[in-house]
Amino acid sequence: MEIRTLGSSMLKVTPIGLGTWVMGGWMWGGAEEQDGIDAIKISVERGITLIDTAPVYGFGKSETIVGKALKELGCREKIILATKCGLEWDDNERVRRNCGKQRILQEINDSLRRLQTDYIDLYQVHWPDKYTPFEETMGAMRELYDAGKIRAIGVSNYSVEQIEASAQFAPLHTLQPPFNLFEQDTAKELLPYCVKHTIGTLTYSTLCSGLLTGKFTAKSQFSKGDLRKSDPKFKGERFQMYLKAVDALKKFAQSKGSTVGQLAIEWAFNQNGVTCTLVGARNAAQAAANCSVLEKQCFSADDFIEIDKIVNTIIK
Ligand SMILES: NC(=O)c1ccc[n+]([C@@H]2O[C@H](COP(=O)([O-])OP(=O)(O)OC[C@H]3O[C@@H](n4cnc5c(N)ncnc54)[C@H](OP(=O)(O)O)[C@@H]3O)[C@@H](O)[C@H]2O)c1
Repeated sequence: MEIRTLGSSMLKVTPIGLGTWVMGGWMWGGAEEQDGIDAIKISVERGITLIDTAPVYGFGKSETIVGKALKELGCREKIILATKCGLEWDDNERVRRNCGKQRILQEINDSLRRLQTDYIDLYQVHWPDKYTPFEETMGAMRELYDAGKIRAIGVSNYSVEQIEASAQFAPLHTLQPPFNLFEQDTAKELLPYCVKHTIGTLTYSTLCSGLLTGKFTAKSQFSKGDLRKSDPKFKGERFQMYLKAVDALKKFAQSKGSTVGQLAIEWAFNQNGVTCTLVGARNAAQAAANCSVLEKQCFSADDFIEIDKIVNTIIK
């Protein structure tokens, strides 16, 4: 499979990365630790080289699972390990942005311990924090970079203005924005900006939180603690519209010997400005299905034009 460079960093990655938010259980209605470990193992065995996690995913649980799986696999140095900083939480699991220097310097040590490693390949500021100057946040990131604790610096959920303000104070190698067939706002300004400035991208929610796997129907129910229970995308007319589009995409995927989930993944990493598309998986079966795109691609440039037409006709 093709290998890509993440922006101006030295990091080389597969165009698909494994997302591990669901493995923490938080906001996904819970998750089994062993399922997460198995998903990581199969992804690595099938060729994925980038794993994305964050301290807030299950309040340490996702990072701990990633650390355990990589230890068992014994392949830390072959993996590009991406984690994040800048969110803190209290005992009631209330989350708050904090990109202050003290918080970042504390978080890196917690992440290194949970991940059972002594360096992070890509360290990303999770969300911009309007109460902390960019100079302070990026100063802390630069300190970690200069000390060799992190190999590249990234930001997530930043606007072009926030990227520009931050890049004055430290090298900025990557951006992590949302992007999938149904949510393409990032393609308007952010992705072209990243191409122009050699910033690598790790786009997230590739399957639109599972919608693009084609497994949901109008009757689907979500469990307590699953963010999709209250997400407007999974309600009313909007949900109906997405289901209709998934149905049309499913038919097109089948005509090419693919599934709609694989179509969504292949489409994403073939879009201009996308370096690596992050795909979440809660267990080995999901991970294996998603990884099959690494081995077999089914769509041509003309097919992607057709896919865009299908989406644009239905999604308003
Ligand atoms: N920086 C940020 O603010 C941010 C925000 C969101 C995500 N991310 C990153 O991006 C990654 C990917 O995004 P995401 O996990 O939110 O969403 P996603 O990739 O769009 O969807 C992942 C979910 O879809 C379901 N799924 C995946 N593969 C499947 C398959 N083959 N068959 C059936 N169901 C399948 C699973 O949920 P169920 O089994 O529960 O249905 C899985 O958790 C995250 O894990 C995280 O690393 C970052």
